[in-house]
Amino acid sequence: MTQQIIDGDAWQVILAVRDRDNTACQRSEIRFDEGVIRLQRDGAWSSDTLLPAQTVRLFDLYLPLAMAGPMVIGQLGQSLDGRIATVTGASRYVTGQEGLVHLHRLRALVDAVIVGAGTASADDPRLTVRLVAGRHPCRVVLDPRHRVDSNLALFTDNAAPTLHLVNEPASEPPSPHVDYLDISQCQASDGSRPEQILALLAARGLSRVLVEGGGLTVSRFLEAGCLDRLHVMVAPMLIGSGRPAFTLPDIEELDQALRPECRTWTMGSDVLFDCRFPGSV
Ligand SMILES: NC(=O)c1ccc[n+]([C@@H]2O[C@H](COP(=O)([O-])OP(=O)(O)OC[C@H]3O[C@@H](n4cnc5c(N)ncnc54)[C@H](OP(=O)(O)O)[C@@H]3O)[C@@H](O)[C@H]2O)c1
Repeated sequence: MTQQIIDGDAWQVILAVRDRDNTACQRSEIRFDEGVIRLQRDGAWSSDTLLPAQTVRLFDLYLPLAMAGPMVIGQLGQSLDGRIATVTGASRYVTGQEGLVHLHRLRALVDAVIVGAGTASADDPRLTVRLVAGRHPCRVVLDPRHRVDSNLALFTDNAAPTLHLVNEPASEPPSPHVDYLDISQCQASDGSRPEQILALLAARGLSRVLVEGGGLTVSRFLEAGCLDRLHVMVAPMLIGSGRPAFTLPDIEELDQALRPECRTWTMGSDVLFDCRFPGSV
């Protein structure tokens, strides 16, 4: 058993676990400000010390993600009636402050965060880690038709590297922190193949990926069987119309529905459904 000592709180432990070579550590013990934990390679953890309830909750929710190797996680924040935005695309904010902090924690645990062209255009997001400690992921915009405006923050703010995924880029990137990645080789009749996009990202060392939205993009990765985990934050709100969370092929019988393993977590007035697909990390 290896022993590690970390000056800091539970979140610092999670970040340190994320950054180490988890494949090399069979079992390890970590001493930190709040106590001692033992980690196993399968993602399990235990402690002989009585840890604060908030620490136990953080470890239960985030240590399995921090210990995972390559992993793809989808996330959406939706209303009770399954909407992620209004008809005009307004989505700030469906979920509450705790949901936002959770989203920033997810960003801090991955190498890359993907958004679709619709989200990039509607939200002009920064996709950085601002509400918790942690480094910014590489920002990835899935925009095969190259329709997203190059004046958006992602392409101008220099806060973190941005990969712009387009078919056959025809110009130079607008800024040194932006790279084009040609995804024409991933093209299929119904759009770009998510598994091939993930392979291109992995070839650049980006193997822990958050698919942050919107609904169409997360649905494409889900339909392709590319998501290991799915985090759906449900807010007690009825929007009544607008952008759907999931758009998947029709099924006729309920036994054809996807039924991932699920844990639930209360976050303020929202509820997080933390879903894991069979055979996933
Ligand atoms: N509540 C939340 O958690 C949340 C999170 C993110 C975004 N949002 C909201 O969601 C809305 C946008 O969501 P959305 O579902 O309309 O759009 P989206 O998923 O952001 O973007 C969809 C577009 O991305 C491109 N794309 C994505 N996957 C592709 C694939 N596999 N192959 C080819 N192209 C692909 C396509 O661009 P082309 O159309 O150019 O082909 C597609 O139309 C915005 O209003 C945003 O505010 C909400």
